[in-house]
Amino acid sequence: MYVCICKAIKEDELRAVIQLTSGAEFSFEGVQKACGAGTDCGACRFKIERQLRESIARPKFDMVAGSEAGGVYIGIASGDA
Ligand code: FES
Repeated sequence: MYVCICKAIKEDELRAVIQLTSGAEFSFEGVQKACGAGTDCGACRFKIERQLRESIARPKFDMVAGSEAGGVYIGIASGDA
């Protein structure tokens, strides 16, 4: 299911982004900067902020992320969430 329709960001992708930005950028603005979610119409802001709150209590999981020419990929390698 998409969290941010404008930027085509799905729930699992948002979770991965939140884990990757869990340092100083653990915020809505950090998510915006990391993946672009919430930077267009803003209708997804509540869902992103809820996901940020929920991720505080959620166990960590392993992720894979990287970039190649023309794109960025993020995935969940394993986890028990
Ligand atoms: S739905 Fe996320 S910016 Fe529009």
